[in-house]
Amino acid sequence: MSRIIVTGGSGRLGRSVVAVLAEAGHEVFSLDRTRVEGLPAEQIVVDLSEEGAAAACFERVRPDGVVHLAAVAVPFSEPDRATFATNTDLAWTVLEASLAVGAASLLIASSPTVIGYGSPSGWEPAYLPIDERHPRAPWNSYALSKLAVEELVAMAARRDGDRLRVGAFRPCYVIAPEEWEGAETQQGHTVRQRLDDPALSAVALFNYVDARDAGDFVRLWLEQAATLPNGTTFFVGAHDSLVTAPLPDALAQHVPAAGGHAIAADGAVFSSHLAEELLGWRPRRSWRTELRMPEQPAAPSSRTISEVELA
Ligand SMILES: NC(=O)c1ccc[n+]([C@@H]2O[C@H](COP(=O)([O-])OP(=O)(O)OC[C@H]3O[C@@H](n4cnc5c(N)ncnc54)[C@H](O)[C@@H]3O)[C@@H](O)[C@H]2O)c1
Repeated sequence: MSRIIVTGGSGRLGRSVVAVLAEAGHEVFSLDRTRVEGLPAEQIVVDLSEEGAAAACFERVRPDGVVHLAAVAVPFSEPDRATFATNTDLAWTVLEASLAVGAASLLIASSPTVIGYGSPSGWEPAYLPIDERHPRAPWNSYALSKLAVEELVAMAARRDGDRLRVGAFRPCYVIAPEEWEGAETQQGHTVRQRLDDPALSAVALFNYVDARDAGDFVRLWLEQAATLPNGTTFFVGAHDSLVTAPLPDALAQHVPAAGGHAIAADGAVFSSHLAEELLGWRPRRSWRTELRMPEQPAAPSSRTISEVELA
């Protein structure tokens, strides 16, 4: 059992990460501005952007491993400058605090948005499926902050690699367990509404991942960090896409710039192959297995059409 700090443990992704780590027997400490009911962790309510706050918490907990999720997590939800400043400063602060207390490993959340899809000046993939070698081209401050975080991780691997294992991951659009039951997803709309209107998910190339599957990735990373190539960034996504049509058809219709590339009908635009190869991680859940389908109306077999219309 290890002592693990999860920053942002009250969040959409954090709650599942905490649950998976606790279930695996780790002692989890959630550092968050807000508290949630029933989290299987010691919850420390703290604003990590306050001077000295992170250092004090880390000194108290003295973690073996750290998972940094706290951030402005939604593009355009804050002014550009604040998003960039907050996300880079929190990551820097958590890196410093991890080093100061001798934590062995630190995993930081990045985002697929670093790739640059949806850019107002046009975007086309270099190839599909997109993996970690694909060029990055952020076009907003959220994506730029995540690119900076990935570079911070690479820098730490070079500078501090003799004492810290560090990594980054790009979770696809996170679906929390309650969202399969009908709660709204991060950018609004239920999963069912997203499937019914493919344009809603087309802006993110139909990417998604179940929060518990992302939690499994985090657990595997922490448990194997010592033997991984230091400073590696991983995509973490479902093996399929959040769309009912075959993926090539959906891309051709909604993202024409990506539609010219060959891709499997039941696949995903973002490849998580590296996570499978290096960690043995595979997503176990899909909208096809998790979504609670609405009840079908009973067939009006014994009634005439006019009776049904009048009912
Ligand atoms: N949800 C997604 O689809 C998605 C996709 C890609 C990347 N990510 C990244 O994953 C991470 C988690 O995302 P999420 O969806 O769970 O976000 P979220 O907003 O649901 O959770 C973030 C948590 O961090 C906490 N937090 C923010 N600033 C803080 C501060 N200064 N001090 C203490 N706590 C603070 C918030 O209170 C919140 O509970 C983020 O870094 C986000 O950018 C999320």
